Amino acid sequence: MSNFSIPYGRQYITKEDEKAVVEALYHPYLTQGPKIDEFEKVFADYIGSNYAVAVSNGTAALHLCTLALNVAKGQKVITTPITFAASANCVRYCGGEVVFADIDPETYLIDYNSVQKLLLEAPKGTYAGIIPVDFAGRAVDLERFRKLADEYGLWIIEDACHAPGGFFTSENGIQQNCGNGNFADLAIFSFHPVKHIACGEGGMVTTNDEELYNKLLLLRSHGIIKDNRGQQYQNTVEFSGGKEEYPLWYMEMQDLGFNYRITDIQCALGLSQLQRADEGVAKRREIAEKYFEAFKNESFVKGQSGSVEGHAYHLYIVEVEDRLGLYNYLREHHIYAQIHYIPCHLMPYYRQFGWKEGDRPNAENYYKHCISLPMFPALTDEEQKFVIEKVKEFYE
Ligand SMILES: Cc1ncc(COP(=O)(O)O)c(C=O)c1O
Repeated sequence: MSNFSIPYGRQYITKEDEKAVVEALYHPYLTQGPKIDEFEKVFADYIGSNYAVAVSNGTAALHLCTLALNVAKGQKVITTPITFAASANCVRYCGGEVVFADIDPETYLIDYNSVQKLLLEAPKGTYAGIIPVDFAGRAVDLERFRKLADEYGLWIIEDACHAPGGFFTSENGIQQNCGNGNFADLAIFSFHPVKHIACGEGGMVTTNDEELYNKLLLLRSHGIIKDNRGQQYQNTVEFSGGKEEYPLWYMEMQDLGFNYRITDIQCALGLSQLQRADEGVAKRREIAEKYFEAFKNESFVKGQSGSVEGHAYHLYIVEVEDRLGLYNYLREHHIYAQIHYIPCHLMPYYRQFGWKEGDRPNAENYYKHCISLPMFPALTDEEQKFVIEKVKEFYE
């Protein structure tokens, strides 16, 4: 097994993907062509949202959301410390203040009680919104958070980067797909190679709110509108054809936007990958079940994210003693497990705002023990058996 190397996550590329990308390369448009629209429609359909806006990456998606919701200097936004930094950073891009709630030690998701406590302890109006994260692929119960948000007049951005294909069940017994827009104002996804759907780089915002949708479209591309929807300043611009007629070259910059566009090439890959999305989630659940069975009676595993309904299993996390020892032992055997995440509030950048050890004990305790084992649809039975064997061997 000398060339054997198993990462914690990896893309899964097929001949169909290759064909789709090559076809897109020979299309008249490499960017801003028909594949973007198609990807958005098929993705919205898959997730069950009314609208989807494809962008250059998940971080850009988050930034567009905070811009569309007018996050401003001094506004406070609550999120979880156990997430990728971008979930919090998008608030900072707009000058807002990030307040980290603690996590639920059972689910590793943002803790409802911790959020409620923050809201109760501050005068109404202190907070502008909440960014819950479907961490590792496990869906946050957004119905509960929506009620709380409505009580305090907050918006919700669901960071669903880990969870396309994940769901929770609402009180009326209906399956609520992550990102479907029924409870969150906006939701975002990433198409980074380790995620469920790979575009190389890529992201998506989903929503059921038409006004927000139009704002996202505008901000994605420099705040510029090209067709005759751009009539805001019709009386200040003179055209040879008269005030009511707009020449084809007419465009209007209505807001300060960005170039957060995705290319047709990336969307062609995304569309092809999306066709196998359900298959990928089913495979991830199968792998999770095997890990769960292998470790359920082992005392070295304190917690594991196994056997959970609606879990999309971007990651398979176990909590163990001597995590560093296990991590190094697995690396010696070319198994590249990973740690998700060092708590965001303890990052040097966030420490400058006063965050320190002890502020979020559940998150900090989780971080001391967590390790993400290899989890991706192309993981073979043989590879998974090898991982399980090496984990057990380390503790023997
Ligand atoms: C939870 C979460 N949010 C946001 C992002 C940002 O996505 P991207 O890398 O596509 O910018 C990631 C990606 O790692 C993530 O895991």
